[in-house]
Amino acid sequence: MIRISGLKKWFRTRDGSVAALRGIDLEVAEGEFCVLLGPSGCGKTTTLRCVAGLEKPDGGEIEISGAKVTSSSSRVHVPTEKRDIGMVFQSYAIWPHMNVFQNVAFPLVKGRRHIPKQQVAEKVRRALALVQLDHMEDRPATDLSGGQQQRVAMARAVVTEPKILLMDEPLSNLDARLREQMRLELKKITQSVGVTTLYVTHDQAEALSLGDKVCVMHEGEILQMGSPQEVYSCPQNLFVARFVGEMNFIPGKVSGADQVDSPLGKVSCPVPPPSGPGSEVTLAIRPEHLTLTQHPDGLSRTVEAKIVTKNYLGDAALFEVEVGELVLRIKLPGDSDFAVGQQAAIIVTPDRWRVFPSG
Ligand SMILES: Nc1ncnc2c1ncn2[C@@H]1O[C@H](COP(=O)(O)OP(=O)(O)OP(=O)(O)O)[C@@H](O)[C@H]1O
Ligand SMILES: [Mg+2]
Repeated sequence: MIRISGLKKWFRTRDGSVAALRGIDLEVAEGEFCVLLGPSGCGKTTTLRCVAGLEKPDGGEIEISGAKVTSSSSRVHVPTEKRDIGMVFQSYAIWPHMNVFQNVAFPLVKGRRHIPKQQVAEKVRRALALVQLDHMEDRPATDLSGGQQQRVAMARAVVTEPKILLMDEPLSNLDARLREQMRLELKKITQSVGVTTLYVTHDQAEALSLGDKVCVMHEGEILQMGSPQEVYSCPQNLFVARFVGEMNFIPGKVSGADQVDSPLGKVSCPVPPPSGPGSEVTLAIRPEHLTLTQHPDGLSRTVEAKIVTKNYLGDAALFEVEVGELVLRIKLPGDSDFAVGQQAAIIVTPDRWRVFPSG
């Protein structure tokens, strides 16, 4: 279990100071896989480094498994090697002069640990089996592919059976296909070890597929925290809506109780406070929640649109359609036979809309 409360960190630079963390509160339950997601510079790595003990925060506290490891008020700072954590970073930091076995064994034999040789070998073999590299023990580390190096780094992080696993963009050096494959592997590995994980990425697809819990960060703060489904389907503000998944944004004005005037006509949808009648708002809807039809049935309200682009993705097709000045993206099944240049009607569904105060 990891508990972070009121975590603050400033960095002093030549031009003054940067507030990297402005008060982070976060709890990662035992065995939970928690993802910190956010754009470059939002403070993900800094949070992770504070948990690892590589950075001393300027405010707040961190507990690992109920024990305080950092507290700026009582000046507690447990050193990294006493925190019982495993770490995997973007640069795998594999030792080039060692073979696979030696790399994974390193955390067990370094320093003053005196673990019997037999036991070291058993632990290393178990960790290598976990990442499916058991046949490569003797391979020099330099003779490995990117994906294999990544697995060695994973094995090395879990070989000491740590309570906590910290990972900072561990898949970002891999090509797209391998990254997806390793993503599934990584989830399987952490699940089978049952380790509490804090994982950093700026890739929203990775965050949604890996996390039990996703925290969306922006400028040193957590803006929203929840299950991947919650964060995707109920973004609480425009930043989260923009950052997680694709969204269409349409300007509008509240015209009555749960009604918004927009370039698509009147849209009926819940309008949360503080927006009231007359407020400028932004309507948001995901491409997969809009549909096109050639034959409006008269039951749902429709708006005429012109198809301007089609991006065929195999299982789906992504269309851009024009309604007056507005360009909307609509995702339909791959076999939809709408063509570029064609007129079609957008079905203005009454649900799935989100409404945010503009600005
Ligand atoms: N050692 C440092 N000295 C000065 N500023 C720093 C230092 N480390 C981080 N920062 C600043 O703190 C802020 C947060 O940085 P951090 O590395 O945590 O971001 P990040 O979310 O991990 O970004 P990225 O996705 O690019 O890795 C940034 O503004 C960064 O420039
Ligand atoms: Mg970073």
